[in-house]
Amino acid sequence: MTLQEAAFERARSSLDRLGLPDRLPALHAAGVGISRTVLGGSHSVAIYPPIDSLSPLDAATTLAGVDWGQQISLYVHIPFCETRCTFCHYTVDHVDVSAGGTTSGQDKVGRYLGALKLELAFWGSQLAATGTEVSSVYIGGGTPLILGEAALRDLMETLRLRFTIVPGAEICIEGSPLTITAPDGVAKLQLLKDLGITRLSFGIQSFDDTVLKYAARGYRRDVPIQACAIVSDIFENWNLDLIQGLYTGSPLETWDNLQQVIAIRPPHITWYHARFADRPQGHWYRMESRFAAFEDEQAILLGRMLIWQELAEAGYHQVDGNRFVSARPFIDPFKKIRTSMAKSLLGVGTASYSHAGSASPGGRARGFVLRNIADIRGYIDTVAAGGSPVATGIVMDPEEMLAASYATGLRNGRVENESLRRLRFECADLARQYDGLAVQLEGLGVLEAYSTDDGEAGLRLTDLGRLFEDETLSLFFSPAVKRKLGCPDSQERLTEPLGALGA
Ligand SMILES: C[S@@+](CC[C@H](N)C(=O)[O-])C[C@H]1O[C@@H](n2cnc3c(N)ncnc32)[C@H](O)[C@@H]1O
Ligand code: SF4
Repeated sequence: MTLQEAAFERARSSLDRLGLPDRLPALHAAGVGISRTVLGGSHSVAIYPPIDSLSPLDAATTLAGVDWGQQISLYVHIPFCETRCTFCHYTVDHVDVSAGGTTSGQDKVGRYLGALKLELAFWGSQLAATGTEVSSVYIGGGTPLILGEAALRDLMETLRLRFTIVPGAEICIEGSPLTITAPDGVAKLQLLKDLGITRLSFGIQSFDDTVLKYAARGYRRDVPIQACAIVSDIFENWNLDLIQGLYTGSPLETWDNLQQVIAIRPPHITWYHARFADRPQGHWYRMESRFAAFEDEQAILLGRMLIWQELAEAGYHQVDGNRFVSARPFIDPFKKIRTSMAKSLLGVGTASYSHAGSASPGGRARGFVLRNIADIRGYIDTVAAGGSPVATGIVMDPEEMLAASYATGLRNGRVENESLRRLRFECADLARQYDGLAVQLEGLGVLEAYSTDDGEAGLRLTDLGRLFEDETLSLFFSPAVKRKLGCPDSQERLTEPLGALGA
């Protein structure tokens, strides 16, 4: 038996031990199954409430009630890319960077950066007034590494000028294989390191040339291999994104990707599951002629088990269903902040998302979730005219806080502490609904009760539950959020996986 055959055999036996595929009909009936749609607007339950459930709000009134606390995490969005990938649903715009870029591309980027600096200056003075410090920075996109050296330097200097960044804070920036391997890539990375960037994150998605071609990534497998070599020479802490389940992907492709990734050994790996919105791969998924070239649920589960098993074998520690680290210090603090309400997050730039507490904690509003205008031109025009880019959001009342404690807390174990017990008391009806759902999911082997070392009761995903991690978390969206998203009932959602596309 070859190594590959033995690995596939082991992965099939692991699935078998979890009762798969036999248990799939019962899981589907409870709304647990591999879904191909974005969940509330995102390919992973990264934030709660999900962006598609937010409503227009009056920025001035809302911001007056916000308390950012003593420390925040800062997210800065750079919405430009040199490719427009066929699966990607982010707010991004294509910029031609060949031969220094077109004039209109440079204008667009320049105007955006001008508006961004105005917004950063606004928040800098607001936070200075309350003595709020920044404990981590994430410059994401899009592809921020598309910016030229002068713009990157200017952005970093602006951040340091406007905010008090605590010493030792992690400062992460996103790149891409094309920006890293471009003629000026090494110089930019070196500059960023000198400017205090501590971590680089970039997406490869796959090393398979056919998958890459249909994803419109603009490169073949040799480019990401070269990019990894460049990055690992400059940064100690870096992350590689891959996606399982893209068009023409297969368990065999996952196996080949694993061989390549393990040979490269990035300190942090994020291996997403492809979900589609109103983008080309979403349309292909609905086309009879193309549907068969997408992995079905059982192929996805086999691939996921291969990923877990082979990365564990290679010495990786699994952080959650999608994230793996070669050593514990490489766990990304920013991802934890995004998925928790415990610490404030300030998002700056178009489409960015923030959450913070309420200035009057005794009231019904326990916090706020806010999102900036999600179209680049609208963002630039509003900020340039002196307006606030905050456009949509939600008031976090006790029900939403309780929902958030499940929808984001379950990913790493939800512990029922004193403040959660108070929330349960305040929204007894919803608490009963969640208890019922938890009992049902425990019965199906998706969740399990556990207790912490200090005797507190917790609820967490089992290995079976982790295979459907984001889908299970989304079952705990609040009734109000589900109504906003127009969620069909669970069974309908699974038999018509793309029913809500483009809605
Ligand atoms: C902002 S991008 C990362 C940086 C850079 N733009 C790149 O692509 O190399 C964030 C990551 O989200 C993931 N992603 C984007 N769209 C996705 C989708 N529809 N399903 C699953 N993952 C997706 C990709 O792995 C991508 O690398
Ligand atoms: S995956 Fe990355 S490079 Fe591709 S469009 Fe999305 S943000 Fe841009």
